[in-house]
Amino acid sequence: MTKEILAEKLDEKAFIDEKVAEIRQQVGDGIAINALSGGVDSSVVTMLGHLALGSRLRTVLIDNALMREGEPVRVAGLFKALGIDIEIVDAREEFLAALKGITDPEEKREAITQTFYKKVFGRLVKESGAKFLLQGTILTDIDETVAGIKRQHNVFEQLGIDPREAFGYGIIEPLIQLRKDGVRKVGRATGLPAELFDRIPFPGPALAARIIGEVTQERLDTVRKATAIVEELLKETGAFQYLAILHNDRVTGMRDGKRDFGQQIEVRCWDSHDARTAKPTQLPYSLLVELASRITSEVPGVVSVTYNIASKPSSTIEAI
Ligand code: XMP
Repeated sequence: MTKEILAEKLDEKAFIDEKVAEIRQQVGDGIAINALSGGVDSSVVTMLGHLALGSRLRTVLIDNALMREGEPVRVAGLFKALGIDIEIVDAREEFLAALKGITDPEEKREAITQTFYKKVFGRLVKESGAKFLLQGTILTDIDETVAGIKRQHNVFEQLGIDPREAFGYGIIEPLIQLRKDGVRKVGRATGLPAELFDRIPFPGPALAARIIGEVTQERLDTVRKATAIVEELLKETGAFQYLAILHNDRVTGMRDGKRDFGQQIEVRCWDSHDARTAKPTQLPYSLLVELASRITSEVPGVVSVTYNIASKPSSTIEAI
């Protein structure tokens, strides 16, 4: 069992010193590699890794076609300002090909995992000569995977899969004792800007976790546009997480006086401390109306917008 460190008990300075020392000890005089998604966890790991190893840590940002609008360039720019070079790797075609025709949630996660570790990242690791991979797995990821609720895409050891055997390299997970609130405290103390340590959580499978049914370029564009609107309008709420989900069912709508058998977006906005349980935020009705109006007018093909009013449990935060 991994021993939890509660955010309120966390001495972030001591934690950073300890993790920096551990990473140095594990990697020795070798090199390590990590993949940055721009989410809170991988951003904090990138900082810890660079504090420990400097240029002996190679950080890649794999554009998997599933990211939010403008992410790769924006995130790389924020790290550049801290003196950390991020390499953007365009793997969009490979991920889209792997996801083609898949509709089952777990099969989708599996396709993303395999494409990420075995193909794209595996290739980069081999080229780099790194024997260690730094990864931002947190305690919540493990809980839910072990409980069989969802297969988070980064928890091999806990599932009894040896990453060295399965993928050919060792994994270092410095955040494994923390939950999101603890990770943010560490992020702030490493000098990350609030735009990175204080952003809402975003899942590893990215926008694919928010598409019910097949993930295609067109459907990604739809959910990406809706996500940008949801994030813009709900930023000031201070909610734990907010997102847009693209449904698979179509509904009859109307546009320009004609019938339009269109798509549906579901908006979710959560109050939560650690993602283990969550309640829908009581958003003002006017804000809900504005969300619907912006999404239906700005996202092509969307005729209907709903707001999720169920808690976690029975719901989960993401849709797949
Ligand atoms: P759920 O949907 O299980 O999400 O209630 C709990 C928290 O974890 C995030 N999440 C993921 N993070 N890989 C990740 O790294 C995943 O596969 C994944 N699925 C969900 C989710 O955004 C929420 O904050």
